[in-house]
Amino acid sequence: MFPHVQSFHDAVTGTVSHIVHAGAGSTCAVIDPVLDYDTASGRPSTASLDRILAFIGEQHLVVGWILETHAHADHLSGAVELKRRRGGTIATSARIADVRSLFSTTFDLADEHGFDCLFGPEEAFTIGTMTAHAIPTPGHTPADTAYLIGDALFVGDTLFMPDLGTARCDFPGGDAKTLYASVRRLLALPESTRVFVCHDYPPAGRDVRFETTIAEQRQHNIHVRDGISESEFVAMRTARDLTLKVPALLFPAMQVNLRGGRLPASDDNGRRYMRIPIDESCFAADPS
Ligand SMILES: [Fe+2]
Repeated sequence: MFPHVQSFHDAVTGTVSHIVHAGAGSTCAVIDPVLDYDTASGRPSTASLDRILAFIGEQHLVVGWILETHAHADHLSGAVELKRRRGGTIATSARIADVRSLFSTTFDLADEHGFDCLFGPEEAFTIGTMTAHAIPTPGHTPADTAYLIGDALFVGDTLFMPDLGTARCDFPGGDAKTLYASVRRLLALPESTRVFVCHDYPPAGRDVRFETTIAEQRQHNIHVRDGISESEFVAMRTARDLTLKVPALLFPAMQVNLRGGRLPASDDNGRRYMRIPIDESCFAADPS
């Protein structure tokens, strides 16, 4: 089975959303839709979603599934707004509960998780006439999931394009050794498998790319190509992660994405707020 894949790159966050379908008029899955969000004004917008909605309309697609590969830290999910306009079942890994518990002392996440469906390991499901599998890929976060739909593999942040390597493992619950095992498992799939990534940050001189193959990854991925050992990967990943900044949208993204794409509940005054926890560690030491 060779599904059609239409991809949409959000230049602000570097996120790539994908629509997987079996042709005009078929049932589709939308993977990792983006809700644009301006932190300074607290204003969401739907410019990214509008491009997805336009394609769905042009192709007369029926939205069967809205699939999240993980709880993204760099953008807000557009799943709820997409569902409101076109329907669909919002789904991710059942291990999202692990990520929610890691953030539960930071944010009030006592309400329902907001997803319509939580996949167990290797769970199979259908998208119209297409069969899909949710493959656990922990490491970047505990709840990362790849989706294998026909010959198309949607890897989330488990792999980037070969010249960019892999995603960071320093978020709560992340683990480089675990990511290495997840990657090697994906790289054992047939070499012709098409691989669609969730992000691209192209270096100067190359265009945005978001499709590669298992063969390309095994030959050329700068972090995990064949021949790179687990210990080499863990040492590289750990050192590199120490140099990375906190993502600009981390706190708004977590407050929305751990609720399945829903905004935080209203305060008593009827307004919704994003909360930013203050890191007070600089006050702990007294130099005198
Ligand atoms: Fe991510």
